[in-house]
Amino acid sequence: MTSKQFALLSALKLTLAVTVSLFVTGAGGVASAGDIEAGKAKSVTCVACHGADGKGLTPEWPNLAGQVKGYIASQLKMFKNGKRNNAIMLGQVAALTDADMENLDAYYASLPPIAGAVSENNASDAKKGAKLYRGGVQDTQIPACMACHGPAGTGLMPKYPRLAGQKAKYIEAQLLAFKNGSRANSVMQPIAFKMSAEQIRQVSLFVSGLK
Ligand code: HEC
Ligand code: HEC
Repeated sequence: MTSKQFALLSALKLTLAVTVSLFVTGAGGVASAGDIEAGKAKSVTCVACHGADGKGLTPEWPNLAGQVKGYIASQLKMFKNGKRNNAIMLGQVAALTDADMENLDAYYASLPPIAGAVSENNASDAKKGAKLYRGGVQDTQIPACMACHGPAGTGLMPKYPRLAGQKAKYIEAQLLAFKNGSRANSVMQPIAFKMSAEQIRQVSLFVSGLK
């Protein structure tokens, strides 16, 4: 198989996955029905770390602005029910109801996304990451990331998160967590498992620079 065929196969698999998920959730039923204003009111406690504009204040605290609808609510639920482990976020979600989570989801999805940038020093590593992101690695069966996260990293609602402009350190930490099994996900774990720490670093730099 050539790498072009491999990329095409990844894309076909995605089309199938998306068709199935649209079927399961019902056409038009994919978007969360949250209330943006109510979500904004609830976000006052989130601002300390995720910023007033949804931009994380440190390299470890992720941006939430412009995330695909549905993803933030799903992660908040997982922090609360323990499927996703993080001591800081566990404390944040304890008092949130399902409706609060849908509202926060709608609010953050409504904010303009944060435009990414990569420093000169990291430009050549980011370029290597771009190759992996777009074409995968055929030898080690790493699929092209863009098949699910989109050619420009903008994600696909409700399940495939936006990666464009996200903090490189945060992305790297999540991929390492999928790789060592501390963050559970049946799709991302096997993918990250096949990636080297170097490939993870490079692809993280690349997506952090996407606008
Ligand atoms: C004290 C700092 C802090 C506060 C306050 C905080 N967060 Fe977080 N948040 C974090 C950190 C750190 C992570 C990264 C967790 C990890 O590594 O898994 C995170 C991750 C998240 C994620 C996962 C993002 C992704 O891309 O998967 C969501 C969603 C989120 N926070 C929403 C919220 C909301 C909504 C609030 C307010 C109710 C909030 N956070 C308050 C620190 C904070
Ligand atoms: C077959 C679809 C698919 C492919 C291909 C894929 N991903 Fe994912 N990715 C997902 C899904 C689904 C999630 C959401 C996981 C969850 O809900 O916890 C995700 C989540 C992530 C996250 C966590 C984002 C966050 O905000 O916490 C990162 C980082 C990530 N993927 C990077 C990658 C990279 C890099 C590649 C390519 C090497 C890749 N993905 C390929 C489906 C995919």
